[in-house]
Amino acid sequence: MVATSSGRDGWSSRTGFVLAAVGAAVGLGNLVRFPAEAAANGGGAFVLFYIFCILLIGLPIMLSETLIGRHGQASATESVKKMAAESKASSAWTSLAGLGVLSAFMILAFYCVIGGWVLYYIGIFVSDLFQSGVTGGALVGMTPDDIKAIFPGLLENGGLMAGLDAVFILVTVYFVARGVSGGIEVASVWLMPAFFVLLLGITIYGAFGGAFSEAVTYLFTVDFSKLTGPVMLAAIGQAFFSLSLGVAGMMTYGSYVGRDVNLAKTSTMISFADTSVALIAGLCIFPIVFAAGLSSEGGLGLMFDVLPHAFQSMPAGSLIGLAFFVMVGFAALTSSVSLMEVPTAWAMGKFGLSRHKAAGIVASLALVLGIASAYSFNAISGFHPLGFIPLFEGQGVFDALDSVTAKLFMPIGALLTAIFVGWVADRRLIDSENGLTGGLHQFWRFLVRWLCPLALTAILIVGIFPSVLGG
Ligand code: PHE
Repeated sequence: MVATSSGRDGWSSRTGFVLAAVGAAVGLGNLVRFPAEAAANGGGAFVLFYIFCILLIGLPIMLSETLIGRHGQASATESVKKMAAESKASSAWTSLAGLGVLSAFMILAFYCVIGGWVLYYIGIFVSDLFQSGVTGGALVGMTPDDIKAIFPGLLENGGLMAGLDAVFILVTVYFVARGVSGGIEVASVWLMPAFFVLLLGITIYGAFGGAFSEAVTYLFTVDFSKLTGPVMLAAIGQAFFSLSLGVAGMMTYGSYVGRDVNLAKTSTMISFADTSVALIAGLCIFPIVFAAGLSSEGGLGLMFDVLPHAFQSMPAGSLIGLAFFVMVGFAALTSSVSLMEVPTAWAMGKFGLSRHKAAGIVASLALVLGIASAYSFNAISGFHPLGFIPLFEGQGVFDALDSVTAKLFMPIGALLTAIFVGWVADRRLIDSENGLTGGLHQFWRFLVRWLCPLALTAILIVGIFPSVLGG
């Protein structure tokens, strides 16, 4: 076990930290949500504005979160508490991290259900590979209607989804329970390079065999008339989810970083890697979809319905399908590990529990909520836990967990972080942690004090009152 300066378990090196943070950031958000959002919001204009949001909003908040954690060298709540006390500010600021811990737990619960779906598709393509061989097409003997029925069939089967959810949570808790350097870092150091190799391999395959130029035109031709208010807000929200901000995750990972690491540099590397993966994922998925003559509909259907269709018509489709879902599984696992680490570290700090106990309790509770999410597609679909709030009307457990965190908790958490770091915390303290000097320092300060709070307030207003922008 490697320790940071305070004697806690911590990353064994800067590379270990960067890989773990990239693992946390790169996930279903890059592979499923980004292509789906780009498709739903007019392609190039969305992509360009998304990159703008990463640079001007995501990156400054990533630095703010990691520096709070690194300064505190403790769980997210304790780190904020410490910084507030040293800045002679109210300890009520701790609640910003408390909200983050709660959000991370809620996202964990439904994220692992989707992780279970990925396991199911891995199973489908493994059995397919046995039947059709390495060079054979995918889902041989199935009609398009049969393929279309796979995903709805899964959503009807609450017991199966709950079981797969349990398996995904067990794998996640295995790494979290083994600790920061011995578990989380090990998972990232092995899985992230494997992920990159698979992503590049499938993308190159698609570039030769698929409709690559059509995909490039689709993703990078900017039609400024499409850059409307709702599109801009969708881009900010996506930047945020993708970088894992607003859920105390980067604070927690930052708390395991040694004092010698320049956080401005690592934040830039993490954001760059996350954005590159989103763009490459677009260049991986759309050529395959377009080559099969399918439309680029958004939503979960893009991955779990449209892509399996597309793999059927590709040479070696079952092998590519398997490689694809294994790749998605790796990305989802390193993200679910980060989501579980946040409440685990919190429970260890708060109740003095051992890591094993804390992780076990968090995993069990996430499973209970996950089972409710799995059955919210079928047996308890009529149960709308937050139905009394207009914003969440008609949403079952799974959808409610998703929208409460994305539309409310994450933007509120990030907004409070920007205000705390930009206006409340002692400036000397912040300046000694952020690794910036000169003009860049001034610019970062301006972004955290002004642009981030204003942009986040806009997201919140539009999230809560969608009619403001007619969305
Ligand atoms: N960023 C992850 C993804 O893209 C999701 C995530 C959000 C993970 C918040 C951790 C915290 O899939």
